[in-house]
Formats: sequence, structure tokens, C-alpha cells
Amino acid sequence: MLSMRGSRVSTQQEQPMTVNVRPATQDDLQILLEFEQAIIDAERLFDDTIRDGFDVNYYDLEGLIASPEAEVVVAELDSEIIGSGFAKIEPSESYLKHDQHSYLGFMYVIPKHRGKGVNGKIVEVLEAWSASRGVNEMKLEVYADNITARKAYEKSGYNSLILTMRKGLLPKTKNDL
Ligand SMILES: CC(C)(COP(=O)(O)OP(=O)(O)OC[C@H]1O[C@@H](n2cnc3c(N)ncnc32)[C@H](O)[C@@H]1OP(=O)(O)O)[C@@H](O)C(=O)NCCC(=O)NCCS
Repeated sequence: MLSMRGSRVSTQQEQPMTVNVRPATQDDLQILLEFEQAIIDAERLFDDTIRDGFDVNYYDLEGLIASPEAEVVVAELDSEIIGSGFAKIEPSESYLKHDQHSYLGFMYVIPKHRGKGVNGKIVEVLEAWSASRGVNEMKLEVYADNITARKAYEKSGYNSLILTMRKGLLPKTKNDL
């Protein structure tokens, strides 16, 4: 298992802080489920087709933590979990040059530690895990309007590829105006 112990990331005051990125365990599930809801809330701003309420889930986190085909990690600062992410090895489309890719998901950093490069450390660890499994192609999805997340991924070397387009066919209600 890979971890990035003692990685230094900068604070806004330029004081380095030591962030440890380690594999998640089932004991982390409660905070991870809270992070999942925070991601869904953040993305509701970009997608009004996401259902309201707390019974909305993006991931099977318990299954991903247990899966040998996935690596769920948490970023810790002084034993506090401040961020998360996972990589999941998936088969690629048959027309592509690579057979498999690693899909990044569940990227989250708590608001008070954003903008300090924590996401970059999480991505580095997940890329190293993917490479150690012989997978050399990384993939992720991000809302086009989520500029903060796009900037974070671009800093880690990711480029935009496909843009998903949508249109609702139901008439707009008064609430949409
Ligand atoms: C996307 C996310 C994981 C990035 O994590 P991060 O560790 O803050 O990433 P970075 O430190 O690389 O910062 C990325 C950008 O955040 C913005 N940022 C900087 N300081 C910030 C702060 N104090 N608060 C919020 N955003 C800030 C900047 O645009 C920065 O880019 P820049 O350094 O080129 O100016 C985090 O913003 C997050 O959890 N967002 C909510 C959930 C989400 O959208 N997840 C992604 C789903 S695809």
C-alpha cells in the first residue's frame, strides 16, 4: 500500500504543514460519507438535475475501500481527516490504445484547507498507486463550471477532453425562472 507520509504543502501564510495521505479504512466511513454529501452539495450548484435530500449517493464507499481494484485515500493533518479521493481501475473502450485506465473520484478537501495543494498530494498518491498496478492512463470527470476543481486538476497536469452537453425537454416551471 502506498502512502505519502510527511508531504509538505504550503499554507496561505507560507508556513509548511505536514499532510499524510494514507489508504482509508472502514473506520473512516462516517467522515467519508459526510464528505460525499459535501461533494454532492457542491455539485448541486452546477447541476440542477441532481435530486434534493440526503438519500443521494455517488459512490459505494464501503465497497470501494474493500475492493482490490480501487484505492480510497484520506489526507490527514494532525490526525484530522481533511481530504479524500479514490482511484478505480476500469476497462477502457476497445477503440483506445490502452486496455485499462484509472478513474479518479471523490476528490474533496475541507473548506479551511483549500488552496494549499492538498488535492495535488492526493492525486500524486493515487497516480503512484495506479502506476504500481501497471495502469498508465488517468481519467476523471468534472463539471465544466467547477472552475476551482478544474484549476486543481490542471495543476496536476490534467487536460480537458470530452465535454458532455445536455438539455431538459420539460417546460420550465416558475421556480426555474
Ligand atoms: C476541488 C478541490 C478538491 C480542490 O482541492 P484543493 O486542495 O483546494 O486544490 P488546490 O490547492 O490545488 O486549489 C485549487 C484552486 O482552489 C482555489 N482556491 C485557492 N484558495 C482557496 C481557498 N482558500 N478556498 C477555496 N478555494 C481556493 C484556487 O482557484 C486554486 O487554484 P490556484 O491555486 O491555481 O489559484 C476542493 O476545492 C474541493 O473539495 N471542492 C469541493 C468538492 C469538489 O468540487 N470536488 C471535485 C469534484 S470533481
